[in-house]
Amino acid sequence: MIHIAVLGYGTVGSGVVEVIETNKESISKRAGAEINVKYILDLREFPGDPYENKVVHDINIILDDPEVSIICETMGGNEPAFTFSKNALLKGKSVCTSNKELVANHGPELIQTAKNNNCNYLFEASVGGGIPIIRPLNSSLTPEKIDAITGILNGTTNYILTKMDEDDANFDDVLKEAQDKGYAERNPEADVEGYDAGRKIAILSSLVKGKNVKFENVYTEGITKIETVDFAYARKLKMAVKLLAMCKDTEDGFYAMVAPFMIPKGHPLYSVSGVFNAVYVHGNMLGDSMYYGRGAGKLPTASAVVSDVIDCARHPGKTITCFWDEQDMDVMDIADTKRRFFVRVSNSDKDKAVAAFAGIEEVESQAAGEFAFITPVMTEREFDEKIASIGGCKNRIRMEG
Ligand code: HSE
Repeated sequence: MIHIAVLGYGTVGSGVVEVIETNKESISKRAGAEINVKYILDLREFPGDPYENKVVHDINIILDDPEVSIICETMGGNEPAFTFSKNALLKGKSVCTSNKELVANHGPELIQTAKNNNCNYLFEASVGGGIPIIRPLNSSLTPEKIDAITGILNGTTNYILTKMDEDDANFDDVLKEAQDKGYAERNPEADVEGYDAGRKIAILSSLVKGKNVKFENVYTEGITKIETVDFAYARKLKMAVKLLAMCKDTEDGFYAMVAPFMIPKGHPLYSVSGVFNAVYVHGNMLGDSMYYGRGAGKLPTASAVVSDVIDCARHPGKTITCFWDEQDMDVMDIADTKRRFFVRVSNSDKDKAVAAFAGIEEVESQAAGEFAFITPVMTEREFDEKIASIGGCKNRIRMEG
């Protein structure tokens, strides 16, 4: 029997217990031994819960129990999750986590600690919820030189953008509706400002590069400036507006960013709607592959945590190879990256815009008093200079593909 502990009996933690209970027989078979949830750590009591007698409030009960070999950290946040995880690893107990903030901030240190102590720090659930993406990058895609990842990595913002498009609704109204339905947090900043997707692409980029891509070096721009009329233009252009998290090798260097983009109908991410996530990976041998599914939610995320538990159970005393060094990865200034831009300006600025941006493609206006166009490919720096020279714009959205 393999004894495990779950840290944090919230949505994901209770999901971990439910997944193990529901699929007990097949999970035990695949793990090679029965998985027993011995402890649940939480500040609260859970009277009437079938697992109430497993609940403890002191982490040391778990850390000091030699029978516990695997810990699921589903608490979220940096502390005390970091200290608990580090201390568990130092005692040779593997940690399986859904905590993207902790993985993005301390991934290399915790991976190294696991290596030093012949155990594992695994984090399949930290990106894309239930979608298998960490394990494919770490094992199935190892022959590849992966030169680009483009993902829809945040369900909340994808839901909001989908609803704004379908219902011709504005951002504030859809956000409120999403909060009322429980799809968006009461404090939605991390999602709508792109920080959550930024942490996730920092994790994927680090795995692809084998070096540490710091979240602070990922350019992030959220969806709060997207207006209802932008979707009318997108439809006219047979495109969709999506919050993309991407990392790319270019001839000028490597960069990672999160921002709203217009993507054409033929793009594999075009039809990824609502709360779904997808990760589109390009490797130099395989070409394109895509990983799609539920990027959040209790059972999908818990299923990914349990997949890591099974992996740990299959490798007792052994560290599963994961390349993510503490050395920082050089990341390009976003100003030097190149692309086309969709732009809306006031009609009164049309002549200035046409003069400043040579070779624009006009887009049929979808709102009174404005002129819309697509620029040729240029660097972000050139674009910012030209826009500043005409006194700004109503909105601009980057274009992908
Ligand atoms: N807030 C995240 C999302 C949850 O909306 O995708 C999953 O990481």
